[in-house]
Amino acid sequence: MSAPNGGFAIDARGLSKTFGPRTAVRDLSLTVKRGEIFGFLGPNGAGKSTSIKMLLGLVHPTGGQGSVLGAPLGAPSVRRDIGFLPEDFRFYDWLTATELLVLHGRLAGLTDAKARARAPEVLELVAMSPHAHRRLRGFSKGMLQRLGLAQALIHEPALIFLDEPTSGLDPMGRRMVRDVIRLQRDRGATVFLNSHLLSEIEITCDRVAFIKDGEIVASRDMADASAAGARHVSVRARNASAAMLGRIAPPATNPSLSGDEIRFDVPFEDAIADVVRALVEAGAQVVRVSPERTSLEDEFMRLVGEDHAL
Ligand SMILES: Nc1ncnc2c1ncn2[C@@H]1O[C@H](COP(=O)(O)OP(=O)(O)OP(=O)(O)O)[C@@H](O)[C@H]1O
Ligand SMILES: [Mg+2]
Repeated sequence: MSAPNGGFAIDARGLSKTFGPRTAVRDLSLTVKRGEIFGFLGPNGAGKSTSIKMLLGLVHPTGGQGSVLGAPLGAPSVRRDIGFLPEDFRFYDWLTATELLVLHGRLAGLTDAKARARAPEVLELVAMSPHAHRRLRGFSKGMLQRLGLAQALIHEPALIFLDEPTSGLDPMGRRMVRDVIRLQRDRGATVFLNSHLLSEIEITCDRVAFIKDGEIVASRDMADASAAGARHVSVRARNASAAMLGRIAPPATNPSLSGDEIRFDVPFEDAIADVVRALVEAGAQVVRVSPERTSLEDEFMRLVGEDHAL
């Protein structure tokens, strides 16, 4: 298969969706490589769920085009290779957890025997084994969410869309989601994750994009520290003094002194060593150098927080 998308799991080009006068998503272009864990961040109403639904073929785009797993959006041929946890997972509540999973497995193309074999495995993955034969109607919100995650994974899809997977989950549940995502990565699957839980994204994702008012406003490669922009550096020296600040020269900027901490900013990591050397030459007894990356939360607030109103 020679797809023009270079083997991307997701390739979106200028996708837009309007609902009447309201633009939910505007000119969405992004690519996600196979095997990548991609985080889609944005405040309520930014267009995250609408974007996922367009990529899944559940919502018809008003403009633009795209492909998933090398097939056009919504192509039936790749549906069995895709898993989806919707943002508000609901299902026939008279089914037991196992019955629901077997049904989903069968809908995703598994044989009955395979679906029955997989059901206990995915229940264990989401820590729901004790509830295998209980009916959904008696489940709490978090239990339903766990089951929703299990049904998205039962057929071991190559591409998994998770819309707010940690919604309603307790701290153990949030850790479980993290572990499950890592397991998917280990088996080579691609995960597209919507969230506004920044710390979760920070720990889990290879790459993130920020969406605001239907438009991508920034993206960041989590492995590439320099992409985080300016870094704050704090150098602790026993004899720190204001006189030492004069040794901090460009590209380092914003020198300041607070107690025995000398602080400054650098545009890239390699600039730190030169500043530390200059400080030592000025007689500083350096005991600690701490570079601080701008956290995703800082960046999120800067990009989407300031003037955001629903
Ligand atoms: N079926 C629909 N009909 C009309 N407007 C819609 C519909 N679905 C979404 N919208 C609008 O599109 C915009 C984006 O909604 P979307 O659900 O994609 O946001 P989101 O980023 O997923 O938000 P949240 O974090 O709250 O889940 C919102 O303004 C919403 O009101
Ligand atoms: Mg949503």
